[in-house]
Amino acid sequence: MPRPKKKSPSLHPDLESVLYTEAQIKKRIRTLAGELKAVYGDGEFTIVSLINGAIMFTADLMREIDNPVRLDCIRISSYGAKTKSVGAPQLIATLTLDIANRHVLIVDDILDTGKTLTLVAGLVRKLGPASLRTCVLLDKTARREVPFEADFVGFKIPDKFVIGYGLDYAERYRNLPCIGVLNPAAAG
Ligand code: IMP
Ligand code: MG
Repeated sequence: MPRPKKKSPSLHPDLESVLYTEAQIKKRIRTLAGELKAVYGDGEFTIVSLINGAIMFTADLMREIDNPVRLDCIRISSYGAKTKSVGAPQLIATLTLDIANRHVLIVDDILDTGKTLTLVAGLVRKLGPASLRTCVLLDKTARREVPFEADFVGFKIPDKFVIGYGLDYAERYRNLPCIGVLNPAAAG
């Protein structure tokens, strides 16, 4: 009897291309955790995760870290069904943990125009942390409107709208295990 053909992993129809596979993301996050270790040593720090986008990244990064960590989340208004950031980001839900005199690491999925992280870093700084650093999985350097450099960057990527691994378009695709470029036809 002929053996059934093994299916090659098919590209999601709404993806133009895959930028990073699940395995590549995992590998990079492991080394990123090592970069954090080099800075924080064994000390405690507080992760401030920007939800929803940074959910997957935060969950996976945290599991690669053996330091004592605390976790809090901040929710910032999203793009809506658009692929370009418009207007100023708004704070929708703020911190519940006390971060005064704590070492704080802000974690986000992607640094784009820089407006979101500028806003959040400003808010956190006002609360008097012992130190403040930022970590993003992706950095679209070409799109910066406000000067902002993250202390830790997973991958620098070209100016393309990407989805998957927490990143959405109109609240969809967050559950894709890879990161890919949105097919413009799917953006309508
Ligand atoms: P910024 O304020 O322009 O730096 O935008 C940062 C936020 O916009 C990120 O936290 C994402 O939620 C969202 N964003 C920026 N670029 C993309 C993208 O290519 N795909 C999905 N979301 C994005
Ligand atoms: Mg976001």
